[in-house]
Amino acid sequence: MKKLVYESKFLFPTLFLILFSGCQMKRTAQKYQERYRPQYHFTPESHWMNDPNGMFFYEGEYHLFYQHYPKDIVWGPMHWGHAVSKDLLHWEQLPIALYPDSLGYIFSGSAVVDWKNTSGLGTSENPPIVALYTYHDPIGEQAQKNDFQTQGLAYSLDRGRSWKKYQNNPVLQNPGIRDFRDPKVFWHETSKHWIMSLAVQDHIAFYRSPDLIEWEALTTFGKDLGAHGGVWECPDLFPLNDQNGNEKWVLLVSINPGGPYGGSATQYFIGDFDGKTFTPQDTQIRWMDFGSDNYAGVTYSDIPASDGRKILIGWMSNWDYANQVPTETWRSAMTLPRTLSLHQTADQKFELRSAAIDEMSTILGPEQKLDPQAAITLLAQETQLYFEVAPDSDWSVTLSNAVGEFFAISQNANTIRIDRTQSSNNSFSDAFAKTLEIPLNRLKVENLTLYLDRSSIELFVNENALVSTNLIFPTQPFNQLLLKNISAGHQKQIERVWK
Ligand code: FRU
Repeated sequence: MKKLVYESKFLFPTLFLILFSGCQMKRTAQKYQERYRPQYHFTPESHWMNDPNGMFFYEGEYHLFYQHYPKDIVWGPMHWGHAVSKDLLHWEQLPIALYPDSLGYIFSGSAVVDWKNTSGLGTSENPPIVALYTYHDPIGEQAQKNDFQTQGLAYSLDRGRSWKKYQNNPVLQNPGIRDFRDPKVFWHETSKHWIMSLAVQDHIAFYRSPDLIEWEALTTFGKDLGAHGGVWECPDLFPLNDQNGNEKWVLLVSINPGGPYGGSATQYFIGDFDGKTFTPQDTQIRWMDFGSDNYAGVTYSDIPASDGRKILIGWMSNWDYANQVPTETWRSAMTLPRTLSLHQTADQKFELRSAAIDEMSTILGPEQKLDPQAAITLLAQETQLYFEVAPDSDWSVTLSNAVGEFFAISQNANTIRIDRTQSSNNSFSDAFAKTLEIPLNRLKVENLTLYLDRSSIELFVNENALVSTNLIFPTQPFNQLLLKNISAGHQKQIERVWK
């Protein structure tokens, strides 16, 4: 009798769960099959996404939060969506982490593990994970106030699964500046303080804190330096060693509009940081990605020293057309995660390089060698293509489809040209069709790696020396490849991680 009662109590919910999860899996699988849906890049299951936020590594999991509007496929009141992954490629979608509240929408920000419990919000045995983000108050904005963006704090004591907002938010008030946002925080060991970089209209402001709660203004950087064709957003400051072990500090600053190819782009500065002031190596403008579609990229916190990598993820879109791209149930993907490195050039200057993360090799299929003289059929819409370039030649690589649409990459003297003018049905935006001219300066092109994923192509020159990230929306899949002055190459199909 007892057994029967036990069974009947649990049978119905169990059956329901099995049926429900079956439907759920089918729904997800169908969803992830849409024509333009990336198969090995992160996308939200549905609705709108922009910037990556709050990226940290803890207990074997990479957390990715993102600007999310869960009710529509255009930008709206911002939440933090959430996903976790063990390898930065296979993601598990989690419930929304932060919802708007009476102080405003939840704009971009960062998260750190507060290992020593400096905030007092956890314990040293169970360190709190602390997120700092921007509150954007739409009522203040509508009332034409200037102080509608402030910085808020939330924390988690359960491996990022649930988040509690700090009771005395905001932790940083606005001094009366309309654009005052996107806090990125790290622990600065030398000065024993938390440092926050904040985007303030046309410059970066640095703050410091002993406990992530009380913030003291330090210095500002960049009013008269760098590109200023638009507002500064989403900063990130971190140290990197070059190939000879020299440590330098990298400051990333996204800018919109005013990118080299129109709309959004990320510039960077390299210099020194003494815990208060950032001093750049020179006054040159430098871009992190020579494409149209890598914005608001920032790096992971708390990757263990034994790994030691600085891994960046960017938003693979551009504010010029992000709200109009022809996807139907969701909008936007993240870039492939990239390992950043610092490289000292012949003129004793430093430059930032980006390579696809090594984990990519775990989802690559067998190699198929290419005959560069022949017309080549692409293995799939999710493919890695690798080419060796004939020395000192003007080479080209063209992907195309049966209706004459194409995406072409070519070198002409000291320039790489990327032509996506006829890559897509461009009617969704006048800003999308474009040709990008990328100056090579002294760079000698030896090889090219391309990652095609249905609606994006990421180009890495010489593995990491130059990168160009671009969206495409061909009306039929690109299935042909035409090569000029390519000496060798191969293609590998890439695993579809969304099952
Ligand atoms: C960058 C950005 C941030 C802001 C967020 C709002 O793309 O404009 O500055 O916090 O998006 O969604």
